[in-house]
Order: sequence, then structure tokens, then C-alpha cells
Amino acid sequence: MTKYVINGGKPLNGEVEISGAKNAAVAIIPAALMVDGVCRIENLPEISDVKTLLQILKEMGAKIRVVNKRTLDIDCSRIGTSIATFDMMRRIRASYYIIGALLGRFGRADVAMPGGCNFGGVRPIDQHIKGFTAMGANVTVRNGIVSAVTGDHLRGATVYLDVVSVGATINLMLGAALAQGTTIIENAAREPHIVDLANFLNSMGADIRGAGTSDIKIRGVQRMTGGFYSIIPDQIEAGTYMAAVAGTGGRVVIKDVIPKHLECISGKLREMGVTVVDLEDSVIVQRDAPLFRTHVKTMPYPGFPTDMQPQISTLLCLAEGTSTVTEGVWDNRFKFVDELAKMGSSIRVDGRTAIIEGVPYLTGAPIKASDLRAGAALVIAGLAAHGRTVIEGVNYIERGYEKMIQKLTSLGADMKIIFERDEPRFKKKIV
Ligand code: EPZ
Repeated sequence: MTKYVINGGKPLNGEVEISGAKNAAVAIIPAALMVDGVCRIENLPEISDVKTLLQILKEMGAKIRVVNKRTLDIDCSRIGTSIATFDMMRRIRASYYIIGALLGRFGRADVAMPGGCNFGGVRPIDQHIKGFTAMGANVTVRNGIVSAVTGDHLRGATVYLDVVSVGATINLMLGAALAQGTTIIENAAREPHIVDLANFLNSMGADIRGAGTSDIKIRGVQRMTGGFYSIIPDQIEAGTYMAAVAGTGGRVVIKDVIPKHLECISGKLREMGVTVVDLEDSVIVQRDAPLFRTHVKTMPYPGFPTDMQPQISTLLCLAEGTSTVTEGVWDNRFKFVDELAKMGSSIRVDGRTAIIEGVPYLTGAPIKASDLRAGAALVIAGLAAHGRTVIEGVNYIERGYEKMIQKLTSLGADMKIIFERDEPRFKKKIV
């Protein structure tokens, strides 16, 4: 079992580079299934979710060539199957984008139900099914497999989403790209990774307009041919490092970001008394004074991202006064609170709101990550805490953060990974 060990209380200083966006990459890789030619994709993050998706495409028959560490040539033109029911599909959420891609290309798809972070609530796909049904597919879910069949191809349709869903917006956009006719997605999600996917598809020959607004129009095309695309920086990875500096104190230049995507995060940190300076493609984050309380409600983009909620809730544990954090996207996303309690935090959860009493400091403890962002929040807690923290469940963190230990130790963190199984032989310290 691998664990992170952190000796906290050290300020972070220096520069850190942000990797490509996980939630864009995990949509763009399945989209390559729809392209009749080679897609050269650059700035891919080195994370396990990307590795899993590439493995799935390989199993389906894709040709994947490594150009360099972050650039791949993906050629799915020889794939002839519309079936993807591998067990590894259940490791991640984004595997469900393969439904839209195969349905768009072949007019049918048999795909294993996805897995992904378990926040404790349900993660339905009714809006995906509603949209594909409106586009002429007959969709059934049996034995953990989603089967979607059309007479021939998907047909363009107008689909109003009852909830603002990133997943449904992306899946329907994929299906519609090769559908017959025009599709309009109303009340669509507007996250940066949705715009990135639309730009990728358009660079391959699709005809998508309005991504980034709540009405997206997709004119189906006959064929998409290959091309080159570079993925945007990861908004949430950047936000996580911003919160880490705010938690430990220090001054860090966070490079290779799009400051516009971080506005909602920078705004809240400034309210807490943190200095955030926007540069062209970097932000400088500095904290050398006490943190102040504030109130946060997570919302779809451009609101405060739910994927930064555990991180800012952790930060508010160290802010003077009483703060509140309301989870506006997921039913229940406070599982990490029990772990913070072991470090001396004072949080009371009432339905979808956490009431956080600031404490002077947190103390190190053995804790456990239950999902990706909860894991990132516990790392921030460990970096800020007095003493030693040992984090289990780091596989969740490695699903979405590239080289977190290397990046944080380069900023002065005292952090390492340990393997714990056969004491004498396996106990190795790797920095
Ligand atoms: C995406 O999940 C992200 N995952 C999540 O990030 C993120 O938390 C979420 O969007 C919201 O921003 C990926 O991009 C791979 P949704 P997704 O569909 O698509 C309800 C991370 O940490 N809903 O936008 O699954 C749903 O219950 C991950 O990187 C329906 O009711 O989220 C939720 O309350 C964790 N019916 C809300 O909509 C549906 O058919 C938003 O879900 C679909 C969604």
C-alpha cells in the first residue's frame, strides 16, 4: 500500500507548472474514436485516468504512438467495434463518453456503466439517456451495460437539460458531431473543458458553435479527419496549488494557467486575505497574514467549482471566525470532514452546508482519502498542520494530479511516498 507522509508547517515558495486539464483530456481521448485519421494530442497530463482511457482505446484496436511524454498520436480509424465492456471502464467516470463517441460514429454502442468518485450520493445518467433518446436512440441499461441503438445514425434534435450537467453536455456533443442534422443543447454546462472539447472536435472537422454558453449548436458532419490539438491547463490543479500556498503561507508563481478560468477561485482567496496577482499565463499567490472567514457556494461554471470545495473547506478550518460552505452541485460531498476532525478541525455539516469554526492550527494524524479532491484537501491539511500526517488512499489522488509529490517538494514541502507491505523488504523512502 502506498501512503503519503507529510511533515507540515513549512511555507511553500517558488514556481510550479500546471499540467493539462484532466477533465478535458478524459473527454478528448474518447472523442478521438470519432476521427477518421491521426489525432496528435499535446499537453496530456500524466495521470492514471488518462492511462486507463488509453488502455481502453488500445483494447478496442486504436493505434497509439508516443511522440513525447505529453504528446500522443491516436489513430482510431481502423476500429470496427461499437462494444466496450471491459472491467477497467468501471475505474473511471469519463469512460461513459465512449457511449457518445461510438453512438455518433456507428449509430450504436454497448458500453459498461462508468465508475468514478463516490461522494456518497448517486451519480445518475438520466440526462444522457434523455438526450440520446431525443436523437433517435433506443437506450437500455442491463447487467451494468448501457446499450444504445439507432436505425442508422443519430438524428439532430433540441435537448433541454433539466440539470446543468458537464457529463451530459459532453456526451451529447460527441454524439451530435456526426449525427444527421442539427442538435441544440439548451441549459448546457459551460466549463472550460467543454469549450476545449468543442475546439478539439472543430479542429478535426466538426461544426460546433456556442460552447461556453448555455446553448450549444452542433451541425452534424459526415466525417472528421485528423489534426493537431493542445489541451488547456487544469483549472482545478491550479486552484489546488493556490489553496496549498494559502494554507501554508509563502509565495508561489503558478505557471501555465489561464487566469480567467481561475477568477472564481482567486476571488474567494482574496476575500480570505490572500494576495493573488494575475499575469498573462501565471498567477502569483502569496500569504503572510492570518486567513479571514468567508462564505462559499459551489455552482456550475463560472460559479465556484465543486471540485475545489474540499480544498477551500480545509483552508477555512484555519481562518479566523465562522465560515459556511454550501455544496450546490452534489447531494453530499463532505465525506472528508471526518478525516479533518482527526486533525482538530471544527466543522458541523447540516444537509448541504458545512459550518466551519476556524481553529488556530491543525495537528498531523493518520488519515484516509475517499476520492480525488478529498485526497487533495487532505494533502493541503497535512502541509499546513503541525507534525506528521500519513495519508492512505493516494491512488485516488494519482487519478487526477500529475507528480504531486515532486511539484510540492520543489516548493519546499517535506513530503514523501512510502510503500507499506513486507516491512523489511518493501519499506523504501522515495523522494
Ligand atoms: C463532472 O462530473 C466532473 N467529472 C466532476 O469532477 C465534477 O464534479 C462535475 O462534472 C461537476 O462539475 C469529469 O469531468 C470526468 P455532472 P459529471 O453531470 O459529469 C446531476 C473531479 O474531481 N446529474 O455535471 O459526473 C448530478 O447528480 C470530478 O474531477 C443528473 O441529475 O457531473 C449532479 O448533481 C469529480 N443527471 C449534477 O447533475 C444526469 O444525467 C452535476 O453532475 C447527470 C448529472
